[in-house]
Amino acid sequence: MKNDFLWWRDGIIYQIYPRSFADSNNDGIGDLPGITNKLDYLQDLGVDALWLSPIYPSPDVDYGYDVADYTGIDPKFGTMEDFEKLVSEAKKRDIHIVLDLVLNHTSDQHPWFIQSKESEENPYHDWYLWLYPKSDGEPPNNWAAIFGGSGWEYDPQLGQYYYHMFYKEQPDLNWRNAEVRQAMLDVFRFWLGKGVDGFRLDVFNVYFKDAAFRDNPPKMGIRAFDRQKHLYDCSQPEMYPLLGEIREILDQHPGGYAVGETFNASTAQTATYCGKDKLHAAFNFEFAENRWHPKRFLDSAQKWYASLEEGAWPNNFLSNHDMIRAASRYCFGEDERRAKVALAMLLTFKGTPFIYYGEEIGMRDIPIRRKSDILDPIGKTFWPLYKGRDGCRAPMQWTGGKNAGFSDAKPWLPVNKNYTQRNVVNQAAQPDSLLLFFKSLAALRKSEPALQRGDFNALTPDPHTFLAFERTLGEDRLLVLLNFSSREDQAHLPEGKWQAIFGSEGVFENKLDLAPYQVIILKRQ
Ligand code: GLC
Ligand code: CA
Repeated sequence: MKNDFLWWRDGIIYQIYPRSFADSNNDGIGDLPGITNKLDYLQDLGVDALWLSPIYPSPDVDYGYDVADYTGIDPKFGTMEDFEKLVSEAKKRDIHIVLDLVLNHTSDQHPWFIQSKESEENPYHDWYLWLYPKSDGEPPNNWAAIFGGSGWEYDPQLGQYYYHMFYKEQPDLNWRNAEVRQAMLDVFRFWLGKGVDGFRLDVFNVYFKDAAFRDNPPKMGIRAFDRQKHLYDCSQPEMYPLLGEIREILDQHPGGYAVGETFNASTAQTATYCGKDKLHAAFNFEFAENRWHPKRFLDSAQKWYASLEEGAWPNNFLSNHDMIRAASRYCFGEDERRAKVALAMLLTFKGTPFIYYGEEIGMRDIPIRRKSDILDPIGKTFWPLYKGRDGCRAPMQWTGGKNAGFSDAKPWLPVNKNYTQRNVVNQAAQPDSLLLFFKSLAALRKSEPALQRGDFNALTPDPHTFLAFERTLGEDRLLVLLNFSSREDQAHLPEGKWQAIFGSEGVFENKLDLAPYQVIILKRQ
């Protein structure tokens, strides 16, 4: 059974925000050699792949998500040799590398855009979405930018507007141009050639826009962007054949994988992009954004499973570089119990778990107290309604020493003050820590194929306190109990004898008492 292990389906994928993981040259910014130095830690943790947020040259208006060269490494992260070393050292440890591809837009400093601005005759002009103003000088249509204001930016020299879904420094590419399409498919080939196994596709469902640039119809909402139905700037049907082409390239590489980040899409819409001739997986935001209630998580997971066609595989995540960390959203103060239940859910539900760096030690967001402290530009735009994404991007907390062991120099974002207690070294020495809880559960998951690819059967259709579900594969039957509540409870077990393999000891029949927030896994004898 072990031989069937397929890294992206059965393994755990760990997201690293490279600026914040480990700084090897003490300039306050994490880098590739920093990650390589931590590979033993990551192997020991039990992760099978690393998704690296963008490492390409970037002016960092959107901290790497504004790419100025798709096949280079930003010098602040290291060199191409550093990257090659990371890939080969990771391979030695059976760790796969997943790169973040940001192909909807480039940086405005990308040579393609600089040329595109030169004149209408420039061969790169058509690589972006340039349109003339309306007769009254207004933008070509009503499309808004999610990061604030109009989606159209006027270039007085050309007398045209270009379109950007995000910051004005992130012009959207014209995916209807055949050369753009080829250039982008070559990016996949380039990195596969470097030994990369997978890709995370940034906002892929917005690559194509309506060919006629029709106005979006109005709807109610707070920000300008929310006051439109995004009929014409998102989720155009042209995406499906392109996914087929991407898949063909990936399928030529054993174990090749792509997971997509949908933008502004429901679970059902997201599911349409996964499966044969499409992506392997996509992110289910409805699950990640749930409030703390077992039924919420169960329902959104089951909706996700039901929406996916055969051949597609679900994944589950609760945190990433764009949202408040799960531990900050769900836990009370520094209390660890909900963080344990949340991690146990990720590691036992059907679907590839995605873990965001530091989630294994329950890192919390750093507080953002003043507008002047904010680095993420959207935090400045929408302050105080929304404080941006710096909170979840603070340095990894390795030790109780200077700057949490992240760097000798002042880190680019402050370290959370709780680092003196909450750090890897401390937790590795505490038997009941979140870190050791995660590690032992990850190890159990690795030894029990039913936890990886088993069927999922909920035993509590309308849970209010705890979840009980079975994961079954062949003869193996595992029963998982997750108590989401601060109250004790009692679970009625299916017939037969059940051996505790996690969170308790002994053999159980008929019923079992659950302590507050207890996690127990049983195996049918
Ligand atoms: C994705 C990224 C986010 C970025 C945006 C624009 O949503 O996750 O960090 O700002 O795309 O590239
Ligand atoms: Ca550095």
